[in-house]
Amino acid sequence: MNEKEVMDIENRFMANVFSKKPVVLTKGKGELVWDINGKEYIDCSSSYGVALLGHCHPKVVSAVQAQVEQLVSCHSGFYNDKRAEFVEKLVKITPKGLDKVFLSNSGAESVECAIKLARKYTGKPEIIALMGAFHGKTMGALSATWDKKYREPFLPLVPEFKHVAPDNQDKIREAISEKTAAVLMEPIRGEGGVRVPPDGYLQAVRQICDEKNVLLIFDEVQTSFGRTGKLFGCQNWGVTPDVMCLAKPFAGGLPIGITVARENIMSALKVGEHSTTFSGNPLVCAAGCAALDALVEEKLADRAVEIGKYFKTKLEGLQAKHRIVKEVRGLGLMLGMELRYDVLNVIMKCVQRGVLVLDAGRTVVRFLPPLIIEKEHIDKAISILDAVLEEEENERAGSSAVSN
Ligand SMILES: Cc1ncc(COP(=O)(O)O)c(C=O)c1O
Repeated sequence: MNEKEVMDIENRFMANVFSKKPVVLTKGKGELVWDINGKEYIDCSSSYGVALLGHCHPKVVSAVQAQVEQLVSCHSGFYNDKRAEFVEKLVKITPKGLDKVFLSNSGAESVECAIKLARKYTGKPEIIALMGAFHGKTMGALSATWDKKYREPFLPLVPEFKHVAPDNQDKIREAISEKTAAVLMEPIRGEGGVRVPPDGYLQAVRQICDEKNVLLIFDEVQTSFGRTGKLFGCQNWGVTPDVMCLAKPFAGGLPIGITVARENIMSALKVGEHSTTFSGNPLVCAAGCAALDALVEEKLADRAVEIGKYFKTKLEGLQAKHRIVKEVRGLGLMLGMELRYDVLNVIMKCVQRGVLVLDAGRTVVRFLPPLIIEKEHIDKAISILDAVLEEEENERAGSSAVSN
């Protein structure tokens, strides 16, 4: 198939729910991907925060190759060696006390499990989430997600979800009622614009939840696996939640969702009360074992600190140069650059010129590169971005769209 045929077929037969870039990707290695015509791209998106080890990490590739010859499917109604190996490796690195795991297939599913768990454990219905939060698009996760463009077409959602203003612990204290089961939040809001909380906020929320006997759930789907410079984002503030939601990179690129909780909390779910057919699939778990080994052996969280600083400094250089850049923020290799106007054009131009970047809301360009990205490729991505910003600035010079 050629480029046009691939696009035509996808457009014809697939639900039109993704905002597509006109690129057919067929190959990846490390922080680079190639399209069907052989054109190279620097991937500063990691496929939406999945390919943190880089594409086709050799350890993951050989683990998958070996397991595919052995056993591909095994329902969790039976035991499996790779599943056991994976959960054992996982709980060795999760924050102390979080050592009971439910495996699923996506970030939204990891949140669904956390919501059910909170309701079952506490016997209470209400979940408090933050304005600006993103937790996924299945009905439960969507009920915790903030953006009305995702929510409104599907009302009514699951009842007893309440949203409060972020970065203000008093709002959480005021919102907690007799009915509250849990507070659910991302340690750093990703889709909400790469918003790092003020120091002391997460610690204060932890304290309030303890005082009020309410569970604290951290959605670490985007902030974990070393991305922010610690294995789990919450470790930047020394705060441990009661339940943690994980997904994206944990199986080296294969689909996975993980809900991990304190043992006494996870034990609230009894046989049959929660399950999914692919939970703990052996192929996924084999890839997951290799991914966790690579994360630890290659010290990728430390690398995210070092390379993240380098990347952020370069972005700050662009901010100093281009008035249309309003702010640069983020932690480790989870970075955002807020512009003074809509970023779609910038993102599309970067893609055309060989750099894959993401948005985070209307005005933020988001960078979630693989943690193995080399400085040489950051430099190249920055110079392309520089040229794109320059062009945008010139096009908009004098236009009322550029505001303060
Ligand atoms: C913080 C957070 N939670 C949940 C999700 C949903 O994950 P998935 O798309 O795998 O369902 C995402 C996806 O980007 C996310 O960033």
